[in-house]
Amino acid sequence: MGAIQLKTPVPGPRSQALAQRREAAVPRGLSHATPVYVARAEGAILEDVDGNRFIDFAGGIGCINMGHRAPGVVKAIQEQTDRFLHTCVQVTPYESYVRLAERLNALTPGKFPKKTLLVNSGAEAVENAVKIARAYTKRPGIIAFEDAFHGRTMMTLSLTSKTHPYKAGFQPFPGEVYRIPYAYCYRCSYSLKYPSCDLYCARHLEDTFKRVVAQEGVAAVIAEPVLGEGGFVAPPLDYFQTLIEICHKHNVLFIADEVQSGFGRTGALLACERYGIEPDIIVMAKSLGGGLPLAAITGRAEIMDAPGPGGLGGTFAGNPVSCEAALVVLDQFERESLNDRANELGEIFQKRAREWQRRWPIIGDIRGLGAMQAMELVRSTETREPAAEETRKATEYCYEHGVITISAGSYGNVIRLLMPLVITNDQMDEGLAVLEEALRTVCGAKDQLAESVIGR
Ligand SMILES: Cc1ncc(COP(=O)(O)O)c(C=O)c1O
Repeated sequence: MGAIQLKTPVPGPRSQALAQRREAAVPRGLSHATPVYVARAEGAILEDVDGNRFIDFAGGIGCINMGHRAPGVVKAIQEQTDRFLHTCVQVTPYESYVRLAERLNALTPGKFPKKTLLVNSGAEAVENAVKIARAYTKRPGIIAFEDAFHGRTMMTLSLTSKTHPYKAGFQPFPGEVYRIPYAYCYRCSYSLKYPSCDLYCARHLEDTFKRVVAQEGVAAVIAEPVLGEGGFVAPPLDYFQTLIEICHKHNVLFIADEVQSGFGRTGALLACERYGIEPDIIVMAKSLGGGLPLAAITGRAEIMDAPGPGGLGGTFAGNPVSCEAALVVLDQFERESLNDRANELGEIFQKRAREWQRRWPIIGDIRGLGAMQAMELVRSTETREPAAEETRKATEYCYEHGVITISAGSYGNVIRLLMPLVITNDQMDEGLAVLEEALRTVCGAKDQLAESVIGR
């Protein structure tokens, strides 16, 4: 029997009843990608309150790379709950915090001495990375990218690019944030093509220092190695090296936001490894905690030590239950070939998606690194007009037929895949079959052999 089992139309009656209660009790600003209320989850499968089973291609937005309820993670959590839940590391510290810091210092790229700070969420980690970079350089400016997403707190909203629904109405944001185009080759801001562009967008940082903000006023450049919410854009493999060289030439730090791209998603523990780069500061969260809230900032020791005692912290930051879960996540990366599996999953998707692209010109771009894969849907292969409504319909078709997918992109026209890396080949095939039907449906069932649009 397949993994998908739908006992009721989706959403079922229990999910619908909960949605009604939710409407009265929870602000509408908290939106849901699906109307499905979850009862339990295991591996790559979610079961809702109506007994429907779904294949999970979203993984809690990239937090479940190890699978739902990964057995080692659950055991470590249970054992820690038998010992103690919370003391506040700033009052009475515990060993697991120190051990996790040591492990992350050793595992992250760069042989130089490092230190790690633990906090609760991706946004909190980015906030702290900015504080630390400013304290070290004694400069205020931060350069971020178009299509970047770094969180929903005020500083991270300032760094985040997409206006609706994230930024609009929440101004004013903290200042000294400057924005430059990312290496989004499908929509190149300079209408150039890689590799003949010679990485113009990276080299353009020199120009930014002349025309936008002086380098001596810039603490750091912050970038996602692969854009997450911005649509799973993976820059050319030599892009970040060029960018970092320019940063270091001007004593500007480079911060990698690996919140979504980390922990096996791109076929390496961190996407930075795929690019062969050693950031000054790396921000991690999501799958680090194996399903529990946890985030880390790891960086060069002298940079991390810039803020004085008491300048960093938070009541629940690095709580002991999450630390134990994260230590098991790291063990599993050392023991199991999860990175290889991520690459296999990426290849399975790419092979299938290339066939779809030959049939349906709506698939403008297929891209990704490892299992961080996506399709960008367009109304016209000539104009590349974003197909946001079609993307919404395709994701709706998916959950109505037993697969949870989520969209992304500044134009909301990207379908991204964040399935747990423990998904089986059968589950992957079954999920992709539903996605194929979703695309067939939004394409009006016309199997056009679109030879003319290939090779764009
Ligand atoms: C790259 C990136 N940075 C930061 C964040 C914010 O993380 P959180 O939602 O845990 O605050 C996200 C969330 O999706 C992200 O993808």
